[in-house]
Amino acid sequence: MGQFPLTLGRFIIRSQSQHPGATGEFSGLLSQIGLVGKVIAHDLRRAGLINILGTTGETNVQGETVKKLDEIANGTFLRAFQQHGLVCALASEEMERMVSLPENWPQGKYMLLFDPLDGSSNTDCNMPLGAIFSVLRYENNDRQPVESDMLKKGLEQVAAGYLLFGSSTMLVYTAGHGVHGFTLEPSIGEYLLSHEQIRIPDRGKVYAANEGNYHKWAPGMQKYVDYLKVSDKATGRPYSGRYSGCLVADVHRVLLGGGVYFYPGETDKPEGKLRLMYEANPLAMVVEQAGGRASTGTMRILEVEPKKLHQRVPLMIGSKQDVETIEAFIQGRS
Ligand code: AHG
Ligand code: MN
Ligand code: MN
Repeated sequence: MGQFPLTLGRFIIRSQSQHPGATGEFSGLLSQIGLVGKVIAHDLRRAGLINILGTTGETNVQGETVKKLDEIANGTFLRAFQQHGLVCALASEEMERMVSLPENWPQGKYMLLFDPLDGSSNTDCNMPLGAIFSVLRYENNDRQPVESDMLKKGLEQVAAGYLLFGSSTMLVYTAGHGVHGFTLEPSIGEYLLSHEQIRIPDRGKVYAANEGNYHKWAPGMQKYVDYLKVSDKATGRPYSGRYSGCLVADVHRVLLGGGVYFYPGETDKPEGKLRLMYEANPLAMVVEQAGGRASTGTMRILEVEPKKLHQRVPLMIGSKQDVETIEAFIQGRS
């Protein structure tokens, strides 16, 4: 007889019992992320039928067009976390400032940063989407958190992960002891453990990047992409290009099969496009926990000192050796 599947709920309880000091707050937070995933997946499935595709007509703090689904997903995170005593502060790509909870509401010891909908250019064409989350601890009981309390290096994350809305819905997370993936079984509404202790291959054969920006990249970056296209059996080249426009989906492919995702700086945007606090840091923690590497090209993502909430950062992430090769090209060593 096959093994009875392990649900996210059971898995969390099992992991919690391995940490004697655990109060269950973190477990509560993670199952609430799972619930958020179910709600967003439900909205995405029907989006084309109930007039929630397209834009709101507004731009967010990053100057980007806001999709109706960006706003809906952001609202889902807020409603799920504001009132349950799981967190004390929330910040997201879609909100200019950090949100703290009214003083008389129950306060949790965690701060949650999130990208409520990642890859939102994919909403209108039924392509994959994601959501990314980063969990930080707030230690000071004397006062409520302020935005600068959130500006911690990625190394200080307590947990991080993502939801992937693809042909199935997945929750992938790490709490610092490896990376685990759960797939939503829609008929029973449960996440089941489908990928325990994910390990990323040391080298892959796939690269993901928006090559339309090639002429805005630094010479080292251009040289690297040219190198990937040259045929060479010994190093597995040429690599295959695979780019979905959804960071979560592209990183998920690389996490499972190896390879590299990169969004480098550009001549007029040296910091690139992706955000440190709720895109690069959480994915860097996941990928490092799986044995991979995440870099700006010159330093480890998790060691970047954040200066502001919506800070952008160049991101090279994936198999260890592939990221090392990019670093060598960027730093002029190859
Ligand atoms: P978001 O939808 O949260 O703004 O993120 C979009 C990100 C990321 O998901 C993707 O890899 C990248 O931006 C795509 O950018 P380009 O359209 O420039 O390729
Ligand atoms: Mn994003
Ligand atoms: Mn987003």
